[in-house]
Amino acid sequence: MLRTDTPVTVYRKDYTPPAFAIDHVDLVLELDPQRTVVTSTLTFQRAPGATGDAPLVMVGEALELLGVTLDGQPFASAKEDAGTLTLTGLPAQGTLAITTACNPAANTTLSGLYVSNGNFFTQCEAEGFRRITYFLDRPDVMATYRVTLRADRAASPVLLSNGNLLSERALPDGRHEAVWEDPFRKPSYLFALVAGKLACVEERITSASGKEKLLQVWVEPQDLDKTRHAMDSLIHAIRWDERRFGLELDLDRFMIVAVSDFNMGAMENKGLNIFNTKYVLANAQTATDVDFANIESVVGHEYFHNWTGNRVTCRDWFQLSLKEGLTVFRDQEFSADMMGSESGRAVKRIEDVRVLRQVQFPEDAGPMAHPVRPDSYEEINNFYTVTVYEKGAEVVRMYQTLLGRDGFRKGMDLYFQRHDGQAVACDDFRAAMADANGRDLTQFGLWYSQAGTPVVSVKTAWDGAAGTLALTLTQRCPKVGIETRAGTPEKQPFHIPFAVGLIGADGADLPLHLEGERAGDATQRGTTRVLDFTQAEQTFRFTGLPRGDKAPLPSLLRDFSAPVIVDYEYSDAELTFLLAHDSDAFNRWEAGQRLATRALLKLVGEVQAGRELKLDPALVAAFRAVLTDGSLSPAFREQALMLPAEAYLAERMGVADPAAIHRARLSMREGLASALQREWLAAYEANATPGPYSPDADAMARRALRNLALGYLADSGDAAMQALADTHYQQADNMTDRAAALSALVNSFAPGREHALADFYQRFEQDALVIDKWFSLQGMQRGDVGPHAGKRTIDTVRALMAHPAFNLRNPNRARSLIFSFCSGNPAQFHAEDGSGYEFWADQVLALDAINPQVAARLARVMDRWQKYALPLRDRMRAALERVAASQTLSRDVREIVGKSLAA
Ligand code: TRP
Ligand code: ZN
Repeated sequence: MLRTDTPVTVYRKDYTPPAFAIDHVDLVLELDPQRTVVTSTLTFQRAPGATGDAPLVMVGEALELLGVTLDGQPFASAKEDAGTLTLTGLPAQGTLAITTACNPAANTTLSGLYVSNGNFFTQCEAEGFRRITYFLDRPDVMATYRVTLRADRAASPVLLSNGNLLSERALPDGRHEAVWEDPFRKPSYLFALVAGKLACVEERITSASGKEKLLQVWVEPQDLDKTRHAMDSLIHAIRWDERRFGLELDLDRFMIVAVSDFNMGAMENKGLNIFNTKYVLANAQTATDVDFANIESVVGHEYFHNWTGNRVTCRDWFQLSLKEGLTVFRDQEFSADMMGSESGRAVKRIEDVRVLRQVQFPEDAGPMAHPVRPDSYEEINNFYTVTVYEKGAEVVRMYQTLLGRDGFRKGMDLYFQRHDGQAVACDDFRAAMADANGRDLTQFGLWYSQAGTPVVSVKTAWDGAAGTLALTLTQRCPKVGIETRAGTPEKQPFHIPFAVGLIGADGADLPLHLEGERAGDATQRGTTRVLDFTQAEQTFRFTGLPRGDKAPLPSLLRDFSAPVIVDYEYSDAELTFLLAHDSDAFNRWEAGQRLATRALLKLVGEVQAGRELKLDPALVAAFRAVLTDGSLSPAFREQALMLPAEAYLAERMGVADPAAIHRARLSMREGLASALQREWLAAYEANATPGPYSPDADAMARRALRNLALGYLADSGDAAMQALADTHYQQADNMTDRAAALSALVNSFAPGREHALADFYQRFEQDALVIDKWFSLQGMQRGDVGPHAGKRTIDTVRALMAHPAFNLRNPNRARSLIFSFCSGNPAQFHAEDGSGYEFWADQVLALDAINPQVAARLARVMDRWQKYALPLRDRMRAALERVAASQTLSRDVREIVGKSLAA
């Protein structure tokens, strides 16, 4: 195995095209759980530029080589060594047949071919195909595939692969066979097969150009009643891509398959998407509104990859954001459009930005910081990050902000016109955007090559006599992560689309006129202007504003037009005014978050100084105003009344103090709960959703606000309110309400707590995804507060590890307990005695022996160890060192702990 060798760094600058092309792959798989035999017959061709004697070097992992033939004759000069198969003396073209065996049942990595619940599945991105057969396993080698699957008919009645089904037949010895053909050239990472006992729902639709398409969702038979929403989401996604981008489904048949053992969310294999059950299975009883929304977005995401990722793919893995950033942007826009209203769109944007700031900003400031297009990696699986995905999506969104929706669409059209069927680079996408719009986007390229979150500082100067407001913007982005190594060039200013509006004393937007702008210029319309902020410091003058003493109030970075931090000293009064009046819904929300963050950080200081905690009456008033403003949508109110997360607050401190943050935030929740009890109750009553459960945007928003209110009410500690949570639990007719009530009961240590936990388990014992919620809720539960002081969540978590339903091998289950505690419960995880860190190290090591990809994700929890106060920081380093000292670490975990300790 590769486990103990020294890490090798792969560099983007070392890219060279492959020496051979593989035009066609014919795979025959004799499926058997313990020993699957694979014969791969390749039609190869020496690349035009390659030297005549260059060998063909293929990679393989955990394979047993059984034989190689060239043009039907045994081929002697094939050398197998340390995961490579080197073939020398090959002709300019020919046919190679390689026979290997692998053991799917023993494959706990969930990469390559593996068995889950007795069924066969594959996962080939990024480098899993090499665990199925020796191959040029890199995305710029594109071939057509014909796949023959043979298996025991009783154990595996269903046999699926990419593309179209050509034939099926029975074989001797109770076996059978299916032959599939994918007419589209694809890289090996998009290959897939599924075999086993599965059932499907199907639907036929007619595509925009009038062709009939067969859509199927495959699951284990007992889950058929949970497929409706996934199928609806798929149909919506297909229609949306036709409408918004003119992109049609190219295959006659499109399949989604659900599997319960899966490392990530889902995978876009051509015509055969494979999904984590979490992102397929849902009905009112078992899935929350958030689950329904996630399913819609992941189904959309994988479907959209069919064009952005599959028809046009990546030249090498450094270009990963070419497909991921673009496809996340597309799924975000899809979900936003599905909300069906402007305010719904804004709420979707708020949710996306919250994730970006809570998870991506810390990544961009820590030891794993990397550009959207990384320059190097040790293990590519570690670069499926929030930077590549979510910041990558922000980069794509900025094109749309700069070019407009029509301009963006022109760029997309040109991109497909130029690159359909090719493996290309991020620069090709940027070139298509620039060329289709006649724009110079050279400087914009820095978003791909420079890491870190830029800070934009804003200064205003008001000339009341002239009616002119000067806005001076400065940007800085110090080196982070790998950029701090000696020899990296100085960073250059980014091209930032900076959207601003100006608000008058009556709260209305003012008409905008920029100095130097031609009258009648099309860009002059509207009350939001996107400034092209391209220099280290730049001043923009707005003229023709109403004269007088009082300057207009700037609304900065509207709709979060760029992934930056805005530094501007608003007063509390100004923020309250923006919260009440900004026409930009995102900035209305942002103003509330700034107010709450400011108040919370002040409270943290009070906790640290040992002073009594008092809630600012102005903050209570601001919250009351939002809570009772019937003109605001329930969805927006829910977003605005949610306090900033503990992890977000930790990032905002110079030295993070999780215990003080938790105390401060809890005290604010309790304070708001008591001070506004009447209003919370009124919101609770007003937002009931009578009638049968429906996952539509309006009902979802009402449930969200109602359950937020319930959570606050339970936190007031009032017995009557805890009884209300208990009733809410008992009367729930859907999982959204039931899970929210359970969480309120558990975290407020209400009397009904233990009973509800036991009831929940009993009701859903047979449903793995619901039991995941049961574990997760307990991993995230509070401890050590108020009358329950001394109760440590770690003790509950350790006890739950021994629960018969716990299973480290199933990633969803491991995440539900371990990850929820280590990353979803900062105050308990960072217990001063270091118990959380010891637990973390134990679990990283245990998981690494089973599934390095999952272990490496858990390892990332320690990224920000240097930010924590003593003694936490020392204890975190000690835990990291303990893991690093292991002699058997995977390359995955080694890269993470290595970079953490080196920072
Ligand atoms: N390409 C997939 C997506 O974003 C995710 C993915 C990458 C993945 N590597 C994986 C999924 C490994 C499962 C396992 O949609
Ligand atoms: Zn993706």
